[in-house]
Amino acid sequence: MQNISDELLNPRLSLLNKLGGISSPVVTNNEWLYLLTEETRNSILIEGYFVDKKSLQDVFSNKKYKNNSDDVDKAVNYHQAANTFYGLAYNDYVDKTDSFLTSAIIKTINSTLRQGDNDTGFRRDHIVITGSKHTPPDYVDIEYLIKNHFLEHIIKSRKAYMAGGIKLSTYINSIAKLHCLFEAIHPFADGNGRTGRIFLNCMLIASGLPPVIIKGADNDRNKYYAALEEFDSKLGNSLNFRDSFYRIDNLIKDEGNAELMTGIIYDSLLYSLDTFICNTLENKGVKISPIADIAPSMGYTADSLRVMVNRGQLIAKKAGKTWCSSEILLIKNNMTEIESTI
Ligand SMILES: Nc1ncnc2c1ncn2[C@@H]1O[C@H](COP(=O)(O)OP(=O)(O)OP(=O)(O)O)[C@@H](O)[C@H]1O
Ligand SMILES: [Mg+2]
Repeated sequence: MQNISDELLNPRLSLLNKLGGISSPVVTNNEWLYLLTEETRNSILIEGYFVDKKSLQDVFSNKKYKNNSDDVDKAVNYHQAANTFYGLAYNDYVDKTDSFLTSAIIKTINSTLRQGDNDTGFRRDHIVITGSKHTPPDYVDIEYLIKNHFLEHIIKSRKAYMAGGIKLSTYINSIAKLHCLFEAIHPFADGNGRTGRIFLNCMLIASGLPPVIIKGADNDRNKYYAALEEFDSKLGNSLNFRDSFYRIDNLIKDEGNAELMTGIIYDSLLYSLDTFICNTLENKGVKISPIADIAPSMGYTADSLRVMVNRGQLIAKKAGKTWCSSEILLIKNNMTEIESTI
């Protein structure tokens, strides 16, 4: 995890905005295809469902899938939910409204993911989270907690960020805490993880940012769970007694808390911004080449360029296992060289 700072975020954001900002999230669009495929693969992997890249590409290009397994069904539903709700979030961003951030939308994301379950709406029973010590709140309080704590804070932080009142790093910290809060409330009988991750990305897209991929393979999944637990421990049992709901407001308002989740989202956002920027530039005809090819003319070794990518000083994207970039994507004095030419 990198130390979260706006120093690495700002040059990326200002370059992205100069390039026209995030485009409408449709998968026929090169900028989005890779991110959405990887997000689907990882998000269902967190829950233990595996779909290979080839089958996923078939899902995304709407071909008939031969393998009609549970895993592919999960991927098809995830893809449908991401496509629909990321589109709505994007239009909310373009139209500058808040109409999208409602509990009706959260419920519809969940029912899109759980097609065939015949169970809609918030849970009407107690629930336990497998492998966790945290006790989610009584179901009678869910509607109140989602509307008056979760959504109210999202709307406030998004307004503040869009008006330039808070830095992106502060906004990421709020989003991280709110994702943890959503999972701690665990409002549905099933699909809480996937619904929460799709909604997290809706918050980002509705603020003009690309979606993040929370990685789902063993080690990363454990880090994600540990990050949720870290916030659970701060909450204590304040979700279980109405008199202590006010504590949630303080936890969300305080800068800090949810350090682990903030780090996960920060690292993923840097990765998504870089992928998005590189793909947009490639669409505009800019050559993005393997790092080993550009190193000599830049006067560096390939290894030192790799270190610069890891430190966030060179914007790059991964093609298979190879990092690819261009010399105009080097960040110097808080700016990429290319920015001065557009
Ligand atoms: N300690 C924890 N505190 C809060 N939330 C947690 C904790 N551990 C796991 N979770 C969340 O619970 C989610 C699992 O809940 P649930 O089964 O309802 O969701 P879903 O899994 O999307 O579904 P499925 O297993 O059906 O694919 C995890 O993805 C994670 O987001
Ligand atoms: Mg589940």
